[in-house]
Amino acid sequence: MEINNLQDLFGSTLSAIYDAERILCRILPGLADYAGNEALAEILRQHRNETEWQMKRLNRITDILGLPRSVKRNEAIRGIIAEFRESIGGIRDKKVLDVALVTSVRKIKHYEIATYSSLSSLAMELGHTQIGEMLNQSLIEEEKTDETLLVLAREGIYEEARKRAA
Ligand SMILES: [Fe+2]
Repeated sequence: MEINNLQDLFGSTLSAIYDAERILCRILPGLADYAGNEALAEILRQHRNETEWQMKRLNRITDILGLPRSVKRNEAIRGIIAEFRESIGGIRDKKVLDVALVTSVRKIKHYEIATYSSLSSLAMELGHTQIGEMLNQSLIEEEKTDETLLVLAREGIYEEARKRAA
């Protein structure tokens, strides 16, 4: 995809985050199955539904702007998932696996937070106020998921794993 201006960069970033959401929709149920902690599994399952709505939101934005529904391969998300898969190969303890799972999902969330925050600001800059607000909604959802995961980890998942290691 050739990028000649800010609008092109916006479209390219949009299609890359679409690929990220598409991948997440596919893998979140499997990640929930890995979780030993039931609350963690439930958060991941709920976020799968939210992710589906985020994909639909991206499709709507693409339609409003009259952009082609192209998908730019997202190597960053694939990289984080590959890193997680590699790390779980060496983890025997379910409690430690939960910590690895929270860490990897939070890495993905932070990627999405930075992307949606940038996209929302860019949309505003380009004069697309409604689209900026839609992207901000996804940003809020990602931030909330990240915060929920962190609280869950601090309120039990970290400690459970530490006790196991002692
Ligand atoms: Fe997302």
